[in-house]
Formats: sequence, structure tokens, C-alpha cells
Amino acid sequence: MYRILKAEMLADKIYLMDVEAPRIAKACQPGEFVIVKMDDRGERIPLTICNYDREKGSITIVFQTVGASTEKMAVLKTGDSFADVVGPLGNASEFVHEDIEELKKKKYLFVAGGVGTAPVYPQVKWMKEHGIDVDVIVGAKTKDLLILEDAMREQAGNLYITTDDGSYERKGLVTEVIKDLVLNQGKKYDVCVAIGPMIMMKFACLVTKELGIPTVVSLNPVMVDGTGMCGACRVTVGGEVKFACVDGPEFDGHLVNFDEAMKRQMMYKSEEGRSVLKERE
Ligand code: FES
Repeated sequence: MYRILKAEMLADKIYLMDVEAPRIAKACQPGEFVIVKMDDRGERIPLTICNYDREKGSITIVFQTVGASTEKMAVLKTGDSFADVVGPLGNASEFVHEDIEELKKKKYLFVAGGVGTAPVYPQVKWMKEHGIDVDVIVGAKTKDLLILEDAMREQAGNLYITTDDGSYERKGLVTEVIKDLVLNQGKKYDVCVAIGPMIMMKFACLVTKELGIPTVVSLNPVMVDGTGMCGACRVTVGGEVKFACVDGPEFDGHLVNFDEAMKRQMMYKSEEGRSVLKERE
């Protein structure tokens, strides 16, 4: 059993949990994910690792309630347990394997959208731990849905916050901030890492492609086994079929077929919606 050490609501429908998982905490790297299961018959839910404490032996997960399983998860409290937490799964972000001195010569821009702030956080933290200052854009629909602001401010070189409705800091989409930084403020970036809703990643990639900035995205499609066997997490990247769980979750954003990935996501969303209704009957 994997005990919940802390459970907290970060914003409407967005929850953070520290979970006791010493083996995963010891081995995990930014970019990797876990699959959690509430009970033996429960759905397997893939979640990116938002933080880890190797000494305490815990990992932090952040999730948004989007269906029956995540709604059930949201009511778990400190002291409750998950039946299973499998991981770390997937591949670590590519930069963790790079030579630090080479990495220091590159300027990174991280773009986080909504709950995507959670997977961006460990990457930015890793950069800071290795003496690399990065720029970070965090976008949220509205001020109340902005998460991890203080934590991100501690790790980012420069943090730019934008809200769709202008209720906090800048007003507008993350894509407008990317353009502003590059075109108006003369910033130059060698790599962009964009993580958030599929639609945000799609448009961020269109902008960075135009600006000539190589871009990495992290895909979080529906997953079942997390081991490359079931095919649920299939995506098309550069015209080739890839499985997000074993080939990703990070891919070259300029090569991802976002329209297809969004179509598949919608298909599963309605499945999830149906399962909520079924349980409420
Ligand atoms: Fe089954 Fe990726 S989750 S192949």
C-alpha cells in the first residue's frame, strides 16, 4: 500500500498529494510518470511526477478531476492509501542526459498551461539545481486556477504569468507571451518545453515553429498498461506510430499530429463521462 502523506486542494478540481513511494522517489527523474490504482479493480491513472523527496521517500502527484476515477481519488485524505503506484515509467526529459556544461550554453523556455504546470515544475527545479536559469511562462484560464505559483517562482529565472481573462498579471494566452518575449523583448531561446492541454501545446508549437525554436511537448493520452502492450496511448509523431508510455511521454512537438491526438482524447473523454453517469445512477 502507498500511504498518502499529504492531500491538498490546489484549485477548483485540482488536487496535490504527497505519496509514500520510496523506491520510485529514489529513482525518478523529471519527465517520468507513474500509474496509480486506488484499489484492485480500479482504473489505472497515469500521472506525471510533480516533485520527489528522495530522503523522505515520497513523490508528489497533481491531478485534475476529469472522470469517475479521478473524482474518487479526490476524496482520499491524508493517511489513506493507494493500492498500487507503478513507476517510474516513461523516459526522463532528454536534458537530464546532456553534458551540464553544454546544457548551460543553451537558453530554455518552459511553457506551462493549467495543470501542465505540475509536470513542468520538476524540470525547472532540476535546471535550478544544476545552476541553469530558465524562463518560464505559466498560463491559466483565471487567477483561481493558477497553481504552484510560489514554488515555481522559487525555481524559475524569470517567471511570466498570464491569465486568459486578465484576472491576474498579464492577460492573454501563453502563445502571445512567447511572441512578446521573442519578437518584442529580443529574447533568444534554443529549446522550448511546452506542457499543458493538447490544444495549448498545438498552438504553442505552431508559434515556436514559426519562430524557429525546437520544442518538446509531453503527451498524456489515456493509458491502460503503461508498458507498450495495449496501444491505448498511441500517437502519431513524424508520420510514425508511437506509444506515449514507452516512446515518450516527451516528443518533438513540431512532429506531433495534435489533431489526431485530440480526436482520440475526445473519444475516451466521452467514455469517462459515461462511467461517471453510470456510477451516479
Ligand atoms: Fe498501453 Fe501505452 S498505455 S501501450
